[in-house]
Amino acid sequence: MNLKNRNFITLLDFTPEEIHHLITLSSKLKSEKYEGIEHKVLTDKNVVLLFQKDSTRTRCAFEVGAQDLGMSTTYLGPNGSQMNTKESVKDTARVLGRMYDGIEFRGYKQADVDSLANHSGVPVWNGLTDIYHPTQILADFLTVKEIFGELKGIKFTYVGDARNNMGNSLMIGAAKLGMHFTGLAPKALWPEQSLIDTCQKIADETGATLNFTEDTIEGAADADVIYTDVWVSMGEPKDVWKERIDQLIDYQVDEDMMKQANKNAIFMHCLPAFHGPDTDLGKDIAKTFGDTYPKLKNGEMEVTNAVFESDKSVVFQEAENRMHTIKAVMLATLKDHYE
Ligand code: CP
Ligand code: NVA
Repeated sequence: MNLKNRNFITLLDFTPEEIHHLITLSSKLKSEKYEGIEHKVLTDKNVVLLFQKDSTRTRCAFEVGAQDLGMSTTYLGPNGSQMNTKESVKDTARVLGRMYDGIEFRGYKQADVDSLANHSGVPVWNGLTDIYHPTQILADFLTVKEIFGELKGIKFTYVGDARNNMGNSLMIGAAKLGMHFTGLAPKALWPEQSLIDTCQKIADETGATLNFTEDTIEGAADADVIYTDVWVSMGEPKDVWKERIDQLIDYQVDEDMMKQANKNAIFMHCLPAFHGPDTDLGKDIAKTFGDTYPKLKNGEMEVTNAVFESDKSVVFQEAENRMHTIKAVMLATLKDHYE
């Protein structure tokens, strides 16, 4: 398996074997790190991290992962570079490709990450766009594999905004790896039909199944994994909150929903999560919508604090795995072979 010089833009570009290879490599790098075995095998390389949106996990995972591999990083934030204001993405790609060995991009448009990939001449890694978040899926699936020992056949329910970057990417990943994916959401928030059709074709070959339902009892029944994400994603205007709350209030992951799932089911979330009163936005939403929807009074939105803090919740193991998996993506695309 050789993924050198490949871009990592969407899991649609990768075969099931290639995705398994990246998860296995992540696991190996994680074990090595735990055992104190260094893997500084890319000491002659430099990578640049372009962020048009905020990040904690993805940025830190790229920085720590790169450092563990012996590479240096440059972080360019939403305001730090000439990109977009004075220089096109295409020109930026041609400049950065001459200085760096790899480029990470987090932003809005998928077209921008595609343009970086088409014009830089070096591997480009998608750290999240409005429609995909593929590095997150590797971390999620590594976590599922660590807990259940396998991915094929896992019953995976995604609850909430199923047509955002997480819903789209989890559906693709599940289809590729033969999982049973359920999107539990109001119909208006199901993924685009063309993407469902693409994933169904993949599922027909891998043995995966794809199912969409608005019924919270049916959607959570027998699930091995209950996964949710924020109701309003980065880049969406503030005024969509009201509509989204109206749509998703019945889809809050609570203990009743977890009880519908399998006895050993886990709760997952890509984070950051609104599960209590300790965020400014959570407080704001509680103040504005708490009288109409008492469920929101405590700053809990997509998940209750009881579920988030329960034994079923694996969200911090999942967050740590961002680093091991992102490290594997950089290593696999920058080096021929790693023993
Ligand atoms: N899950 C995730 O991508 O987190 P950040 O926004 O903190 O990078
Ligand atoms: N759907 C979320 C994911 C955050 C990791 C967002 O785009 O804001």
